[in-house]
Amino acid sequence: MPATVFVSRQLPPEALEVVRGRVTLRLNPEDRRLTPAELAGHLADADGLVCLLTDTIDDPVLARAPRLKVVANVAVGYNNVDVAAATRRGIVVTNTPGVLTETTADFTWTLILATARRVAEADAYTRAGRFTEWGLMLLLGHDVFGKTLGILGLGRIGKAVARRAQGFSMRVLYHDVIRDEAAERELGVQYRDKATVLREADIVTLHVQLLPETRHYVGEAELRLMKPTAYLINASRGPVVHEAALVRALKEGRIAGAGLDVYEEEPAVHPGLLECENAVLAPHIASASRETRVLMATMAVENCLAVLEGRTPANPVNPEALRQSR
Ligand code: DGY
Repeated sequence: MPATVFVSRQLPPEALEVVRGRVTLRLNPEDRRLTPAELAGHLADADGLVCLLTDTIDDPVLARAPRLKVVANVAVGYNNVDVAAATRRGIVVTNTPGVLTETTADFTWTLILATARRVAEADAYTRAGRFTEWGLMLLLGHDVFGKTLGILGLGRIGKAVARRAQGFSMRVLYHDVIRDEAAERELGVQYRDKATVLREADIVTLHVQLLPETRHYVGEAELRLMKPTAYLINASRGPVVHEAALVRALKEGRIAGAGLDVYEEEPAVHPGLLECENAVLAPHIASASRETRVLMATMAVENCLAVLEGRTPANPVNPEALRQSR
């Protein structure tokens, strides 16, 4: 009997084609987030799950999925999955690294430029019919070229962001738990401690994974180290930034602005942020190009299929679960 795979949200049709005929596909008929009870109901007889970062796959959900062998998350981040619980239960968890690196780096740069050059404010100004005369001092931002970029987290995406900075003739400082001398040689980036990056950068961009130790990685103390002319960019995970502290820093002019794609209580956005004209706010779309979303979904589906067919998936995040896979 073919394995049963539950797909929690709408996927691009190209990705579904990969599994058609190879498994029994069960789709969430509505493209909406399922409640934990609904999710558990669908998982009661599922062998595989393809899910999104909006689905919370915790131990109580896994406990109600007796046949589940694989959770294939359509995202590189997997903080929505209790990986330790999955491992204990012999369930393989997979993610989608690599395919979204360049798209996410492009969008990080979109936020950098939009924030420093006040594009969202300018758009609103023009649409409101306020562009009645060219003005020498109208909507002044700050230059990006030739400035100092601070990258916190020099993984795949951080490096792709650094590569683009070369075209802007920037000095690039970075901090990571692991110093990467090969990247320093290849990209001309310079390693500094976290405080120095925050103190010296004109633009600080965050590319760390969300882990217990990176929750509120940038809070009140870190924001106080930044220059009043500096910008904070976050396209990683919302809880990496202490949002209330950021709102205070923006309102008090302790930093010049922020470009955010992610939020602490996503999809809720801190009401204070909505009041800040110096914040550019996007709805978690850094990897949202048609091409990349097809690649992500296809990769997830292939990971799922691999486990169900007894092969090693390309992107397990808990390879130890493969050995005990049920
Ligand atoms: C991820 O993959 O983790 C992003 O946040 C969505 O692309």
